[in-house]
Amino acid sequence: MYEKDFPILKQKVNRKRLIYLDNAATSQKPSQVIQAMNDFYEKDNANVHRGLHELSMRSSFAYEKAHEIVGNFINASEEEIIFTKGTTESLNLLAYTLTKSLKKGDEIILTEMEHHSNIVPWTELAKEKGIKIKVIPLKDYQLDLKKFKLLLTKKTKIVSLTHISNVLGTINPIKEIIKISHKYKALVIIDAAQSISHMKIDVKELDCDFLAFSGHKMFGPTGIGVLYGKKKLLEKLPPFQFGGGMIKEVSFNKTTFNDLPWKFEAGTPNIAEAIGLVKAIEYINKIGLENIQAHNQELTNYAIERLSKIKDLKIIGPKDNQLGVISFYIKDIHPHDVSEFLNGEGIAIRSGNHCAMPLMNILKIQGTNRISLQIYNTTKDIDALIIALNKVKEIFNGWRRRNLQRKHIGSL
Ligand code: ALA
Repeated sequence: MYEKDFPILKQKVNRKRLIYLDNAATSQKPSQVIQAMNDFYEKDNANVHRGLHELSMRSSFAYEKAHEIVGNFINASEEEIIFTKGTTESLNLLAYTLTKSLKKGDEIILTEMEHHSNIVPWTELAKEKGIKIKVIPLKDYQLDLKKFKLLLTKKTKIVSLTHISNVLGTINPIKEIIKISHKYKALVIIDAAQSISHMKIDVKELDCDFLAFSGHKMFGPTGIGVLYGKKKLLEKLPPFQFGGGMIKEVSFNKTTFNDLPWKFEAGTPNIAEAIGLVKAIEYINKIGLENIQAHNQELTNYAIERLSKIKDLKIIGPKDNQLGVISFYIKDIHPHDVSEFLNGEGIAIRSGNHCAMPLMNILKIQGTNRISLQIYNTTKDIDALIIALNKVKEIFNGWRRRNLQRKHIGSL
């Protein structure tokens, strides 16, 4: 029903209808997002906050308004919305600015299911400052909350975790985790890269301190991400980058910084991308996040049910608390071989470690195949995937049988 909104989906790949199941890597863009960015460059393009001419006023207005619209989307004020390059930059911003006031022996808690971008910024800075990193372990592909409670101490300053795992599809009980962490006065950061386009997020209701997400995983363009932070916390944090736009007054002796959110937006920002993101939010709002969630949950359940019936295929995920993302592997077939074969059938999936090497090591696997779903996917796509996976098995099993026969004949 929604596929007609996405021009890219009209094409054939390898002479087959394109079936795009790699939405956790990036989602496709509806026409209005593409059109809005095109219109901006054709009609309004100018730098923001730097000119008094008509075009600059138009682009400044649209860029400022984008903060307000993104704020409304997650129930935050415009001052609490900082535009970044993506989730990775949002998390780096936090790691650099928050660890400045931490001292040796302070503790940061992460989880075993984090993406590299919510591990490496913390571990690298922790090394420099002597900060201790603790990790919440998994139990049946979900966070072990009992063990989490044991990790918290008076020294815990930050708890940073993903809302939905980009590998397992697990939906984490973030509200509960935030509540428990706040008892220890720890700040909680939510990586919402995967959840933002699947579930309604209300930062006030969650009471999270910071939230990070990317535009490109929610039907918007690449190159723009969001960092939400509670106003009183952002006011206290030092700037991440210095340059034009983030200052009030500059001399060679002293610089005073701009008000929120501009204090954190040095240099010419991603103006066209902010305008594209606004259109993506309008698109989501038009369908309704509850409807998107219901569709994607139903399709996730359908895919899990159908995949579970394939012999020798193992799903790596909790199955009953999983949304939008399904990882699996087929016994004795390398994930890259599976995804290469599927590409020949016009089906796009991701295979590998999904930027989560620590998780792969904990699960003692090299990688998985991963499908990730969005509003334009249908049960027809899943049915085509199941047929293709059965073909992969036939081909590889046939090849293995022939090899075994050859070895047998050779030894006669
Ligand atoms: N983080 C993105 C993914 O999981 C790129 O594919």
